[in-house]
Amino acid sequence: MNRQSEFAEKIALVTGAASGIGKASVSSFARQGATVILADINAEDGERVASDLRAEGNDAVFVRTDVSEPDQCSALVDFIKTKYGRLDIACNNAGIADGIAPPATHELPLDVWRRMIDVDLSGVFYCLQAELPLLLATGGGAIVNTASLQSFITFPRTTAYTAAKHGVLGLTKAIAKEYGPQGIRCNAVAPGVVNTGLTREILSNDTWRAALEEKIPLGRTAAPEDVARVMTWLCSEGAQYVNGACVPVDGGFLT
Ligand code: NAI
Repeated sequence: MNRQSEFAEKIALVTGAASGIGKASVSSFARQGATVILADINAEDGERVASDLRAEGNDAVFVRTDVSEPDQCSALVDFIKTKYGRLDIACNNAGIADGIAPPATHELPLDVWRRMIDVDLSGVFYCLQAELPLLLATGGGAIVNTASLQSFITFPRTTAYTAAKHGVLGLTKAIAKEYGPQGIRCNAVAPGVVNTGLTREILSNDTWRAALEEKIPLGRTAAPEDVARVMTWLCSEGAQYVNGACVPVDGGFLT
């Protein structure tokens, strides 16, 4: 842990922190001195990540949370308020995606549509609603939402994910405009193709992997740490004049 860093004394919440991009981000904040709260629906992995961070000397606590349940998002932030009395950084990152062979849009089961919107869009909104009062009481702070390439473009048969991630971009702008005057910056990262549990199935297929890599000017898919570095920067003093931005972290995919 780095007690000299600008993140020392900061309280940082990351959702979806049990794996992938969230795990890399929460580790980055913790190793730079922040006290971190890990939220995830997966308690086993979440507890393990928090325990590993504590073993390195960091302040880390896991709170099992399903972000699609507004009451659980409120309880999460109530816990933070009671234990720490403040919140400086909130990364609304938890998400799900389509499988490797999703159905055509006209055949998409409504429960699949609803779950995607509940987790990937409403989940961000519920977290924001819970977090904003504590961020305001703290005197300001930084929010980063995890958007996607699919906040800008789409691929066939990914209608629900595309709609949800376009919505995350809208939420990011809305919060940036409404709460910027009160010292809360709200930005998003738009990861490209990242090696995580979400993409394991697609990237283990050689044909799919090659087709995706061909679209990435940097010639490789991303590590979770590639995205975590940008999330951390967006919460840093270096980004103090960045508000309402959605930063692609995609190796140039969108170019
Ligand atoms: P991941 O599957 O490794 O991590 C997602 C985490 O969210 C998991 O730990 C999972 O348990 C948690 N989660 C799922 N549903 C939840 C719920 N209802 N409540 C609380 N936690 C829940 O995947 P990854 O890639 O790290 O995903 C993180 C974010 O990045 C997601 O929002 C995803 O849409 C986004 N993203 C990922 C890309 C990729 O290529 N991996 C590309 C673009 C965006």
